[in-house]
Formats: sequence, structure tokens, C-alpha cells
Amino acid sequence: MIIGIIAAMAEELELLLNDLTIEEKKDKANMTFHKGKLYGKDVVAVVCGIGKVNSAICTQILASEYKVDKIINVGVAGGIGKEIYPGDIVVAENLVQHDMDTTAFGDKVGQIPRLDTFDFKCDKEMVSIAKNACEKIAELNSFTGRIASGDQFIANIEKIHWLDQEFGAISCEMEGASIAQVCYLNAIPFVVIRSISDNANNGAHMDYEKFVPIAVKNSTRIIKQMLEMM
Ligand code: ADE
Repeated sequence: MIIGIIAAMAEELELLLNDLTIEEKKDKANMTFHKGKLYGKDVVAVVCGIGKVNSAICTQILASEYKVDKIINVGVAGGIGKEIYPGDIVVAENLVQHDMDTTAFGDKVGQIPRLDTFDFKCDKEMVSIAKNACEKIAELNSFTGRIASGDQFIANIEKIHWLDQEFGAISCEMEGASIAQVCYLNAIPFVVIRSISDNANNGAHMDYEKFVPIAVKNSTRIIKQMLEMM
């Protein structure tokens, strides 16, 4: 079994790469694919870059060229809702693309036109392993629910309310749902695990700078626990 691990930014993958025994390194589409052993598992770990296009390209390369069996997307995200704070973990149950809008044709906002699903569901077993991994780390608060992805850094209270009301999302980021779409199209089980770096509100970019290192440490611990359980 080969597990693909995708992070959008170098700082999100740095700690995991330190622990990876690299067997092969290849550059494709401006991304470096690190193949090797991580906590006893065969993985391909890659930084895809920010946004839905980068993450979709990366996921398709993992599918077509590396034939990965499962995909984990890890990184930081904005928290939606009062009770979710920086440092907390969100394990996605399903994901939607909040910036897809063909409502002019009668679709619901977020619906990918002519696709037979509205949301992209994470693999149940991987979600359960991720949740168990969170529970093993006593001081971590974790949540499970919907993540909304789009090509926007959300730093606006009205937008968070909209994401909550329109989609029931508990977190927002910029890659998960496109990785999820590519996994759906290729029938690859996946899970998205995000560590909260900010509350997506007006001061989001400041919280973000401050909390990213903590968030990255937390998600790295979860991945370690998860891989040991898989
Ligand atoms: N990633 C981390 N924080 C985010 C935010 N507020 N919006 C979008 N992506 C994020």
C-alpha cells in the first residue's frame, strides 16, 4: 500500500519530511515528489502549492504516476464557529467547493455542474483512524464535519457566516475539496485533516502568522499516530 501525503505549503510538510527516509525524489509540474518510508509506511509526500488548481494537478499525478492507494491531505485551515480555536484539529467528513457557482442554471451554489454528487465524502475508515489518532493526543481538541474550500483566504466575518449558513461548514481552506474531487473521480479513498491557524475573521492573517507553527506541529503528530495505526 502506498499513501500519498499532500500539503499546500512547505512549512506544513517540513516536520514530516524530516522523519521521511527518502528513496526517490522527482520533480513534476513544479512540485517535488518524495517517495520513501515514513513511520514504517510507504508514502509519497509532496508540497502542491496553494489553491485548487495546484492541488488537483498534484492529486492526479499521485493517482496516475504513483498509483497511490490512499491520500491524506494535511495542513492548516480557518475555523468557522465560535467553539473552534487555533490549534484545534478538524477532520473532514466531506468537502465542498464554496467558490463554484452555476446558480444561474438552477444549481445549488457549490455544486460542480453535471457531476453526480454535491459534496465529496472522505473514506469512513480513514476518518475513524484520524479521529482515533486525535483522541490519543489528550490535549488536542478535534472536530469532525464539512470543510469548504475555495481560491480565497477568508478574513471576513460575513463570509464565515455565509459558509456556515450555506454549507454548514466548520472550517475553510483552499485545497481540500479539489483534492477530494480528483480522488472521487479516480476512486481513491482519502481524508483531509486540518489544524486550525485562525478564525477566518478580520484578524485572520495575523492569527495565521502566529499559529501556523503550532498548527503544523499538531497535524504532524496526528499523521504520525495515523500512519502507525494504518
Ligand atoms: N488556511 C488557513 N486559514 C485560512 C483562511 N482563513 N481561509 C482560507 N484558507 C485558510
